[in-house]
Amino acid sequence: MIKTETNNLDIEGVSLIDLNLDLTEEIKALKKKMNAVILAHYYQENEIQDLADYIGDSLQLAQAAEKTDADVIVFAGVHFMAETAKILNPDKLVLLPDLNAGCSLAEGCPAPLLQKFKDKYPDHILISYINCSAEVKAISDIICTSSNAVKIVEQIPKEQGIIFAPDKNLGRYIMKQTGREMKLWQGACIVHETFSDRKITQLKFQHPNAKIIAHPECEDVILRHADYIGSTSALLNFVIKDSGSEYIVATEPGIIHQMELKAPGKLYIPAPPENNCSCNECPYMKLNTLEKLYLCMKDKKPEITMNAELMRKALAPLKRMLEMSK
Ligand code: 13P
Ligand code: SF4
Repeated sequence: MIKTETNNLDIEGVSLIDLNLDLTEEIKALKKKMNAVILAHYYQENEIQDLADYIGDSLQLAQAAEKTDADVIVFAGVHFMAETAKILNPDKLVLLPDLNAGCSLAEGCPAPLLQKFKDKYPDHILISYINCSAEVKAISDIICTSSNAVKIVEQIPKEQGIIFAPDKNLGRYIMKQTGREMKLWQGACIVHETFSDRKITQLKFQHPNAKIIAHPECEDVILRHADYIGSTSALLNFVIKDSGSEYIVATEPGIIHQMELKAPGKLYIPAPPENNCSCNECPYMKLNTLEKLYLCMKDKKPEITMNAELMRKALAPLKRMLEMSK
């Protein structure tokens, strides 16, 4: 990065930011000018969450994208979330601050390999977790998120076989909740698989009154300790309504910002990873920064694009999910 005479940041001569700019004010002005809406996931940096028009879990963000009348959707989240917004709004400009903001679940489940797995069970339907590519959505029968997965599986007739992809931990959790057998794709989230059972047990000794709250992407060994399991927004609602005052939070710690805002005066302890690393932070989500958010709005890129046929095929299972979660 080179500081130029004009006091700008120059990244290989491509993107310039005047260091004197108040990025928050600039983003607000661009939002108005472009008639844009900023949708942000709970795992984004605090300063991005504070600027967003809407913060939510994957289902809420998809629902917000479906309803918006803005001309431009700026997605402060990861690629599959922005792709979902585009599939629901093929005629709108959908921007993602960093196109490399992927997801280990989506990356670990290429559509051609999932198709081969699916071919082994021709009488099964495929339910895919929304954390997957548009190509995987296009070969799926129904999409689900962590907040509606159990509800959706419960609506499928008992005799109907189900393949669930790509998250084996969420899949196993749904099987326990519903008593249904499902064929599971063996994918996992690198963030939610990092939590240390040993360190959480130690924390529980130090904070005997703390409740363990966990996202269903965590491994079974963590979920077995949990006092409450739910999607990011369900975890947030739990701490708002619960009478307790201490929580060990087994999901990405970005959610703690909203917990501190909406349920202040309580202690939120991020569940630690086994190693002394920051691997409990999602490296993909954290690729988005305030600077990149500003630049993507100023330059109207990077933009999410897909061919029309792919979008048409991926839309049907998404619409089915939105209908089934009402
Ligand atoms: P939620 O839908 O619960 O917000 O989960 C999204 C996600 O990527 C969790 O890792
Ligand atoms: Fe994907 Fe895990 Fe990051 Fe969520 S936390 S976006 S599942 S890598």
